[in-house]
Amino acid sequence: MSRAQLVELARQDLAHGRNGTLDQVDEIVQIPVENYFDQARFDDEVAKIFRRMPLVLGATAELPNPGDYKAMDAAGVQVLISRGRSGEIKAFVNMCSHRGARLMPEGTGTAHKFSCPYHAWTYSPDGDLIAIYAADDFGEVDKSCLGLTELPCLEAAGIIWVTLDPNSTLDIEDFLSGYDSMLGEFGLANWHHQHTQTVHGPNWKIAYDGYLDYYHLPILHKESFGTEIGNQANYYSWGPHTHMGRPDKGWEKYEKLPDADWPVDQLLGGVWTIFPHISIATFGGGGRSIMLSQLFPGETPETSYTNQIFLMESAPDTDELKAEAQQQFDFLKYVVQEEDYATGIALQKNLDVGAKSHVMFGKNEGGGQRFHQWVDTILATADEDLPELFKSASN
Ligand code: FES
Ligand SMILES: [Fe+2]
Repeated sequence: MSRAQLVELARQDLAHGRNGTLDQVDEIVQIPVENYFDQARFDDEVAKIFRRMPLVLGATAELPNPGDYKAMDAAGVQVLISRGRSGEIKAFVNMCSHRGARLMPEGTGTAHKFSCPYHAWTYSPDGDLIAIYAADDFGEVDKSCLGLTELPCLEAAGIIWVTLDPNSTLDIEDFLSGYDSMLGEFGLANWHHQHTQTVHGPNWKIAYDGYLDYYHLPILHKESFGTEIGNQANYYSWGPHTHMGRPDKGWEKYEKLPDADWPVDQLLGGVWTIFPHISIATFGGGGRSIMLSQLFPGETPETSYTNQIFLMESAPDTDELKAEAQQQFDFLKYVVQEEDYATGIALQKNLDVGAKSHVMFGKNEGGGQRFHQWVDTILATADEDLPELFKSASN
């Protein structure tokens, strides 16, 4: 089903390629410059988007086995993701029930129990409080009520989504609007996590805009890779999530083939963004690989950081393949840091000097337009109306 959908998108890309057209939207849209630096707006985005929407906090490949865990900071919330004995993924606030200490330091690893560094209260990978140090001295408590605070969580398509609000009633499947079945075609559940590196950038939306735009490729990236891809994009969306294809006559050679014979690697090319903060791009070098870019707002409106998580279909097993993979990671860090984010950081400085009231997104930048519309919509939606918003978006 999702394969047929991928082929359908490729056929649309082919038709655009043949006709010399691209998927334009109706209007040029203006975005107020304040949206990128206003402190109140930024606080609202953190509270209503990052603290309420399901976020991609990890990949299956980072914690593949029972007992594996990942601890991280996500938009100011310390999160502990754990694969329990049954293999099921759970997510918790990384906070001890005794006096609130952080249970596990940031990073990934394997631990068959979580023991608090402060007074050694101990939890199972399923989040149950299993032991209290010097329990008789402490006094009697009902351990069954003192487990870790669980967060809504979903593992699908080899990707792990977590909602940072423990009381959220938003169904993560509804939020995904069927997009996870498309992402499932990558087969990431069985891939290997090779490397993660971090890049620092401007306001999270300036940074994210760059992942929704091929328009800049042959210009900003002319020295690195941009002339290979062209500057035109076709945007396909599932709820708030967007895939970027491009007009492509190259599909002609597959046109007469049954869907199953279209090459899946190429069908999965382009960029797959997951609202509000993820971009997945495929690349060669050291074997079949993806870079999952995970953006988070920084401490101020003018800052963000991006974890570049590299997954490979299989672990590079020779020195040559390892070196090739590492070269790719270095290259992608360079491109994002020195080209995209350096441009974004300089752009950011221009926005609050009073020179322009708005920036623009053209008819060829429908992906960015849609992203900003979704940001505005979510900011304006009350908690209780969120489930309905995504249910209606997926129909
Ligand atoms: S805060 Fe964790 S055991 Fe005391
Ligand atoms: Fe770029």
